Amino acid sequence: MTADDRLVYDLDGIGGRCDELRRELPGVRVRFALKACPVDEVLGHLARRGIGVDAASPQEITQALRAGVPLGRIHYGNTVKSDRAIAHAHRLGVRDYATDSVEDVRALAAHAPRSRVFCRLSTTGDGALWGLSEKFGCAPEDAAEILLTAREAGLVPAGLSVHVGSQQMTTEAWQDAFADLDRTLTAVRRRGLVLDHVNLGGGLPALGYADRHGNPLDPPLDKIFAVLRDGMQYLRDMHGEHLAFVVEPGRHLVADHGVVRAHVVRLTRRRDRDGTPRHWLYLSVGRFNGLYETDAVQYPLDFPAHPGADRDRVLARVAGPTCDSDDAFPGLIRVPRGLASGDPVRVLSSGAYATSYMTRGFNGFAPLPHTCVGGERP
Ligand SMILES: Cc1ncc(COP(=O)(O)O)c(C=O)c1O
Repeated sequence: MTADDRLVYDLDGIGGRCDELRRELPGVRVRFALKACPVDEVLGHLARRGIGVDAASPQEITQALRAGVPLGRIHYGNTVKSDRAIAHAHRLGVRDYATDSVEDVRALAAHAPRSRVFCRLSTTGDGALWGLSEKFGCAPEDAAEILLTAREAGLVPAGLSVHVGSQQMTTEAWQDAFADLDRTLTAVRRRGLVLDHVNLGGGLPALGYADRHGNPLDPPLDKIFAVLRDGMQYLRDMHGEHLAFVVEPGRHLVADHGVVRAHVVRLTRRRDRDGTPRHWLYLSVGRFNGLYETDAVQYPLDFPAHPGADRDRVLARVAGPTCDSDDAFPGLIRVPRGLASGDPVRVLSSGAYATSYMTRGFNGFAPLPHTCVGGERP
């Protein structure tokens, strides 16, 4: 890594994306999934816009409070919590918790008494670049039992949540989630529980990623928003106007407004074992110092020292600087043939899950520092 490699966040871009989201989903509470970008300046910027936080641990709750997010706008959205973590969050003042099991509900009753709980329903994750299936969420038919257990244990059964998988590319996933929510709200009401909110989770896509051939991925964002608006109206019609809605975007707010400034280590040409000639472009930043998602996400690359050199490009595998073969982008990307060691490279749309997934410095390549530009000064 060279001294000026870094991740640059554009606070005005992040704020603008947030404003657009609120325009598209009027009246919906936005809680930023802090895990996507645990950067104080970003949090502070969002907090000043009235955004809340979806926190995954007491450490994230502490960071959100430090950044000025009011307690009432922070929930503990991780269904995986130890007794100690629950008690810590409760001491910090958090009173809203996600759950998906009777065991977790009992722990909440013991360590966060009288808190509000919302039950996460599992989804298939189909259509997402990172499906968050299996590990989280109960079968929709089990939600009523879990929420009744919560009530008997002195907690307040408050809502339901879903997460359709991160970078969800289809509208069908949302339609399926609304169908599950509708069925579950009905089942829960039959058991005498009236819930006051539905948390639609994350999953809203970044707009700037490429596909494996370097072409724009082009997620159907407008159609997704239309499905969300229709789905929320349907749930209100069926289950009461009192239902409030929450979204927990991470990637959608920050991905396109972060750029990794990296450098070329070297462009090489050598033959594979089967004799195929192959270009490899090694960058100073890769999977272990900022671009962890390289196997799922294709970031567009920009080469400022070779503007408009479209004619003279070669297809290359792109990889990070470490001795790990997982530290490589999928697919082949067109890169300028004339790239030299030290040339600057801009890795676009790389603002989500970059700082948070960095290692302590695998192979001696230090985690990337970051800089924030723009934003009103507090
Ligand atoms: C509970 C929860 N909410 C929100 C998010 C944010 O998801 P995304 O970045 O797809 O918006 C995640 C991501 O893992 C999550 O686990």
